[in-house]
Amino acid sequence: MRLQSADDLFLTEVQDLYDAEKQLLRTLPRIAKTAGNGELTTALREHVEETRTQINRLEQIFEMLGKKAKSHPCLGMKGIVEEAQEILSEESTNESLHDCAIAGAARKAEHYEMAGYLSAQDTARGLGLKDAAALLAESLEEEKNMDRRLKQLSSQMLKEAQRSVAKPQANGKAKTTAKANGNGSKANGRAAKANGRGGKSTTSNTTTDHEFIRQWAEQRGAQPACVKGTGKKGDTGMIRLDFPGYSGGDSLQPIEWEEWFDRFDANQLALVYQDKTANGETSNFNKLIRREE
Ligand SMILES: [Fe+2]
Repeated sequence: MRLQSADDLFLTEVQDLYDAEKQLLRTLPRIAKTAGNGELTTALREHVEETRTQINRLEQIFEMLGKKAKSHPCLGMKGIVEEAQEILSEESTNESLHDCAIAGAARKAEHYEMAGYLSAQDTARGLGLKDAAALLAESLEEEKNMDRRLKQLSSQMLKEAQRSVAKPQANGKAKTTAKANGNGSKANGRAAKANGRGGKSTTSNTTTDHEFIRQWAEQRGAQPACVKGTGKKGDTGMIRLDFPGYSGGDSLQPIEWEEWFDRFDANQLALVYQDKTANGETSNFNKLIRREE
């Protein structure tokens, strides 16, 4: 759209926000699924509902302007979403650290939206569009509250991460328990309790059992994959489980299970996984860690 008036400017700002919110509506549920911390999952899911309301408010503004609700591609949010997907596909040996990274990615999205709402609100006020400005102010307040909530959670989760990193042997018993529970084989140690966060919300287990991993993944629709560009010629590179809908975008490439397990064993990896979330739903949370960890 050519900007010929302040009305055009305001319409573009609303269309941009409309697109940003819609991108988040698609992304937040995927991010929430990978969070291990129950409070973080709840915060993200509740914000999904707020996002629906915010989309509805923008539609009301379109109506006030006598315009059809239409998106203007928001490249800023696209970049933030891509970065978040990259974070989700990154390896972490600590669940709380993974959660901190998720919260950080979500806060970037919130701050970007806050900037968009502030600017649109100022334009609406300048144009004397009080009702539109009031609707934008409501959404802005929700974004600020979400940011505050994420900030608080991040600080708790970071402390948890630091505690578990500082005392790996006292806290997580991955190494010793894996041997004890390994059905007589270290390589097949299944479901050894690991990475305990001391809370009631989640319990992670660690396994190296090929058949178990394959079943766990396939029950969730996940496929074996590797991260594009990480392997040299004849080398698979970094392996991942590719879940439907939140694979890290185009960064993953499907491979066969045989190749995936070859790499898994060659790199002495173990899978940290979770069966249920704090809410009792099927959890897709997983991480690949070194067996000695
Ligand atoms: Fe929002």
